[in-house]
Amino acid sequence: MKRVFVNGYGSIGSRIAQFIADDKDIEVVGVGKYSPDDKVSDAIVRGFKVYVPKNKLDNFKNFKISGTIEEIISNCDLVIDASPGGVGYSNKKTLYEPLNSRAIFQGGEKITGEKSVAPFIFNSRVNYEKAFEKQFVMQGSCNVTGMGRIIQPLKEKYGKKIKRMDATLLRRWADLEDSKTVIKDSIEWTVKPHHDDDVKSYMGVDTPLFIRVFKVPTRQMHVHLMDIRFNGPAPSTSEIIDLYKNEYGVATLYGVKGTKDIRDYAESINFSFKDTNMIHIHADLTEAQDDMIKITYSDDQTGIVVPENHLLMQAMLFNRSKEEAFKHTEELFHMQEKKRALEEHFKKQ
Ligand SMILES: NC(=O)c1ccc[n+]([C@@H]2O[C@H](COP(=O)([O-])OP(=O)(O)OC[C@H]3O[C@@H](n4cnc5c(N)ncnc54)[C@H](OP(=O)(O)O)[C@@H]3O)[C@@H](O)[C@H]2O)c1
Repeated sequence: MKRVFVNGYGSIGSRIAQFIADDKDIEVVGVGKYSPDDKVSDAIVRGFKVYVPKNKLDNFKNFKISGTIEEIISNCDLVIDASPGGVGYSNKKTLYEPLNSRAIFQGGEKITGEKSVAPFIFNSRVNYEKAFEKQFVMQGSCNVTGMGRIIQPLKEKYGKKIKRMDATLLRRWADLEDSKTVIKDSIEWTVKPHHDDDVKSYMGVDTPLFIRVFKVPTRQMHVHLMDIRFNGPAPSTSEIIDLYKNEYGVATLYGVKGTKDIRDYAESINFSFKDTNMIHIHADLTEAQDDMIKITYSDDQTGIVVPENHLLMQAMLFNRSKEEAFKHTEELFHMQEKKRALEEHFKKQ
């Protein structure tokens, strides 16, 4: 039995802790909290031991705290760092390296430059085995993870026949549970977004991918508009739809009017956290035109990286075969069942 500590209990950390607690091969030894707020009680009620920084112990005297983060990190096999973007790097320097611990970092970190947290970005569809034995690995962000699920099958089937891929990312402004962020009545853009380099870091630097990123005032998922240009005539729409039929974590839906339709459905049939944990190709908006295929898909921003962290954890802790790891993740996340339910509800009329 391996001991796993989840450092950070926000949108991502709380989901990871909740899902992996059902894994019989590991023990979630606790979660890390930094602010003495309602989420401390939430974690305790859900059965997690809560650890806090040594220098903040006094702030938590009204809660039943199990110990300090410094102590628990020296007494576990793996830390899943779910801190705010950029903080993972300082945790690496002040905690994980000095205590010689192993860690998974999330998508708000970097793998290049002075603040690099790990040698590479993980994507279970592309480089699962690369994580075996590693001390530090970064899980790609939600958008970066979703893009791998779309591009890798295209690359395997069409290779050099693909001339270029132009993607426009419409990003959600804040998460469902995030009550602190004010959603502005504005559309904002990002100059030099990280997604381009992040995707190319694991798909290959020669991947002909060009990305533009806009943030829109919603909490309900991301939408990606991907135009794939071929050298010569494009494949038919049905060939592209078929390509994703058996892809893990990709559902193909018809008749969806907006991202909230999907969340509402997920909530109505009690998917945990209202997450689908996958991307959804919108078949009505996917079409072939001359030398181009246009694919539109939405990406469950909070849910998609949670099964990925579970797969990455299995590679790092158990060197488990990819097939076994996917089987085990399925037992916890029921992705195939969720995909079937979504595809049945949003089926072609
Ligand atoms: N949200 C998404 O949709 C999404 C999707 C994919 C990837 N990610 C990535 O996942 C990471 C976490 O994002 P999030 O959305 O979960 O953020 P979040 O909701 O703001 O939660 C961050 C958590 O980190 C805790 N924290 C504060 N200081 C910390 C420290 N020094 N070390 C460890 N934890 C600390 C906070 O604790 P307190 O509340 O107690 O202060 C909070 O529980 C980021 O890298 C982000 O880019 C996010």
